[in-house]
Amino acid sequence: MRDRETNTRRDFFKSAAAASTAFTLLSRNEDATAAGPNDKVRIATIGMGIIGFIDTDCALKVPGVELVAAADLYEGRRKHVKERYGDRVDTYVDYREILARKDVDAVLLCVPDHWHSKMSIDAMKAGKAVYCEKPMVRTVEEGPEVIRVQQETKAVFQVGSQYASSIVFDKLKEMVAAGAIGKVNVVEARFNRNSSLGAWQYTQPTDASPETVDWDRFLGSAPKRPFDATRFFRWRNYQDYGTAVAGDLFVHLLTGVHHATGSLGPNKVAAMGGLRYWDDGRDVYDVILGLLDYPATDAHPSFTLSLQCDFEDGGGDATAFRFVGDEGVISVGFDALELKRVGVTWPTPEQELKGYNSVQTFSKAQQEAIAAKLASEPTKAPKTSGYKGVERYQAPAGYDARYDHFVKFFRSVREAQPVYEDAVFGYRAAAPALLCNNSYFQGKMLGWDPIKMQVTS
Ligand SMILES: NC(=O)c1ccc[n+]([C@@H]2O[C@H](COP(=O)([O-])OP(=O)(O)OC[C@H]3O[C@@H](n4cnc5c(N)ncnc54)[C@H](O)[C@@H]3O)[C@@H](O)[C@H]2O)c1
Repeated sequence: MRDRETNTRRDFFKSAAAASTAFTLLSRNEDATAAGPNDKVRIATIGMGIIGFIDTDCALKVPGVELVAAADLYEGRRKHVKERYGDRVDTYVDYREILARKDVDAVLLCVPDHWHSKMSIDAMKAGKAVYCEKPMVRTVEEGPEVIRVQQETKAVFQVGSQYASSIVFDKLKEMVAAGAIGKVNVVEARFNRNSSLGAWQYTQPTDASPETVDWDRFLGSAPKRPFDATRFFRWRNYQDYGTAVAGDLFVHLLTGVHHATGSLGPNKVAAMGGLRYWDDGRDVYDVILGLLDYPATDAHPSFTLSLQCDFEDGGGDATAFRFVGDEGVISVGFDALELKRVGVTWPTPEQELKGYNSVQTFSKAQQEAIAAKLASEPTKAPKTSGYKGVERYQAPAGYDARYDHFVKFFRSVREAQPVYEDAVFGYRAAAPALLCNNSYFQGKMLGWDPIKMQVTS
């Protein structure tokens, strides 16, 4: 199965594409072919579930990357590592045995959210480069320690939310900065679904048991409870291990918005929703809408972000962004974006005098006075820019932002270069998503200082 979050091609622009050939094809930013044989990077993946295999396959496409080990708590997945990558790849139950190996340069952390901060910290302290899946942390409280350890160890640490490396979002960023939509005032982003798999009802193996699953190790710091295969294989449905829909999906949307606008984050967060369809024993909601207010900064004017995830969108699932400015709107999908510039308009003198307006209700003398005034004033028109009325950009067929994200990661590992989606960026995207959960569960609006990265109310 392809990763639902990022790679499934949606219908978003299909009709537009069919109607018009006026697409400009985007090209990759990164050249991955530069690495020579001496640049070999040896990786190990911890957590060989759905994204563990997808990330590993993707990372191995980057020249010079070799898989030497993997860890997982379910026997069937350790077996499948050998089936897929060969017997020479060592498999472990305890990830610390991987961290102890001298020949592992980098680890991919593809484990449930309640393990992210602990494993990131352990791996950085063990001298490994870390690619940690999103969200960087399970709770807002966990963020500062991950940042502190990254700064102390100077480890290469990248969060796995791939919009930050997408050529579509890079183009968006360039257009927003160049004034293609004027001043951004609202961003709308949604990640809707309409299927059981989309709602996390992943298939469980028939051999799941305490013999094939290391349940106690899975729990880690989570509350102790007896073996429960559903909690193990569908951990996202439970607050003890996951971060609900906001932590799973809002974090991608926030990454995209922060990348495109250069924003550090919102200062007010509120969310509402409910459990309205997939009431299968989960203790999280399946519909959530968040409203986040972004104060003006040097990078952008003030804007309001609306986020939505609806797991029972009967119209068919859809992921989309709209960046709304006073001069235009950019609609963004996984692999394409479209600019429409209409701008804020003013009436012509004719429309002002004879159209749907107050003038016709005034006395004749007033109407004549206003007509004379209009005739003596220049007419107002929407602003112009280098961008035309409608422009469309399309990523090449099969484009995968995750691959570009790995190319960036491995370049940082090889050249000890700074990471763009580092622990600070990752926390600034994760914290507002997690605050949406806190707002939802606490039933109140929360304050956040995006510069100091602290909850303010
Ligand atoms: N960037 C993306 O597009 C993207 C997409 C999907 C998932 N993710 C993230 O990846 C992570 C994993 O998600 P998934 O859907 O692959 O989950 P999953 O349940 O399919 O796989 C998780 C695996 O981790 C293993 N595991 C759990 N605790 C472990 C431990 N202590 N040591 C070793 N292995 C352990 C489990 O055995 C399981 O096989 C989540 O944090 C999720 O948010 C990111």
